Amino acid sequence: MSTPSASSLLEAARDAYAAAYVPYSEYPVGAAFLTEAGTVYTGTNIENANFSNSLHAEEVALSNAWMAADREFVALAVASAAGDGVTPCGMCRQTLIELCPASMPVYCGTGDGYEEHRLETLIPAAISEETLEDAA
Ligand code: THU
Ligand code: ZN
Repeated sequence: MSTPSASSLLEAARDAYAAAYVPYSEYPVGAAFLTEAGTVYTGTNIENANFSNSLHAEEVALSNAWMAADREFVALAVASAAGDGVTPCGMCRQTLIELCPASMPVYCGTGDGYEEHRLETLIPAAISEETLEDAA
């Protein structure tokens, strides 16, 4: 199976934010997942006048892969139009750690390059099913 490079996954994330709906923050973000099948799924942020229930780029990309029943996530790229190395927010990190491998690389676009993180490093003490069992 051909594996897109970090830079091509980042290119897909950058292409995705062309579809951003960000009248409030004016901060377009794109995300692109690579799955084991070699397929790339993209998403962008879609905001709302109430500010709270905006969809994040990572959530939209994950939903697209999920509904295609393609759920073996291999890598994630995230890029903002600002090229500032934006990382997934805390809420998205918690969603990701539930559904993706802890060791999954997360490539964050810096404009002319990227910073590579690991999901488990971004959220080292996530709540999990075991946490809930321990509390029972
Ligand atoms: N945002 C994302 O979509 N993903 C990130 O990784 C960081 C933040 C969005 C949420 C909101 O629409 C805008 O960026 C500013 O926070
Ligand atoms: Zn988020």
